[in-house]
Amino acid sequence: MKGILLAGGSGTRLSPSTDSLNKHLLPVYDKPMIYYPLSVLMLGGLKEIMIISTPEDISRFERLLGDGSQLGISITYRVQEEPKGIPEALIIAEDFIGTEDVTLMLADNIFYGQGFTTLLRKAIKDHQHATVFGYRVKDPERFGVVEFDHNQKAISIEEKPEDPKSDFAVTGLYMYDYRAVNIAKNLEPSDRGELEITDINKEYLKCNQLDVELLGRGFAWMDAGTQEALFDAAEFIKTTQQRQGFKIACLEEIAFYMGYISKEALYERGKTMEKNDYGQYLMEIADRKHHQQYWDSIDHHPMLGLVENE
Ligand code: TTP
Repeated sequence: MKGILLAGGSGTRLSPSTDSLNKHLLPVYDKPMIYYPLSVLMLGGLKEIMIISTPEDISRFERLLGDGSQLGISITYRVQEEPKGIPEALIIAEDFIGTEDVTLMLADNIFYGQGFTTLLRKAIKDHQHATVFGYRVKDPERFGVVEFDHNQKAISIEEKPEDPKSDFAVTGLYMYDYRAVNIAKNLEPSDRGELEITDINKEYLKCNQLDVELLGRGFAWMDAGTQEALFDAAEFIKTTQQRQGFKIACLEEIAFYMGYISKEALYERGKTMEKNDYGQYLMEIADRKHHQQYWDSIDHHPMLGLVENE
């Protein structure tokens, strides 16, 4: 399975903060926003990741994350010339996807909750055609909304409906087989002039090939696209981290525990930032004698509530 992080768009709702800086590079408390979705793809076990962003911003992502080798993964970069809609990512990444399955994730989405990584890995393992994740929200009219029958089977999906048929929003994490590329190519722009991801999901639904995984109330899903949401997300991360002493979406820590990088590499990386809390945290993990034992012995992943013992 390949991974795509879509980090373009115009970010108008966060202006003026986004007038000269891409939204997904803004900090969510102690790290750039894009760390959070990237951590999800890494915890899902994806190692080949493409980041798509605007012509002005793509080099900044490259400066931040390089070719991914420092994290033991591969990161490549592509430009989306204009924000013509989320499905365009699939067209841009056509050769990268090839005939593989792909997870497409919006880079302003943050997921957190016990068991999330297990759920994600299971979804990746069981994935057949299309899988999306539903989350109950109090303002469904802002999202793609999925309606279920009494067996919890999806029966309709509508984009930003005036009169939503359920409270379940489709989150910004989508898994498709390679046929999604052709579906994307045949889409017509909506009234707002964009290709709509909901139209791709509808195609799969029509063929009875759309799985919807529901994230229960124990999960937090945030899209950090507005001032309010960004602030709330930062506060949530800060509170959770400070209480537990673990960092959420610390990419180097994940790379270490996934077995992608050595303890020495983790320590060295920490040392480059030793004056700040993030660097000290990396050095501390590398040093902690009983940390691995801790990871092995409990089934609660300290970052994303991962139930690990597989
Ligand atoms: P949106 O929140 O719909 O749009 P935006 O990020 O441009 O922000 P605003 O509405 O404030 O102007 O986008 C959802 C996510 O998808 C976000 O992470 C940006 C990304 N995106 C692209 O990368 N390219 C696109 O063409 C679109 C529409 C969105």
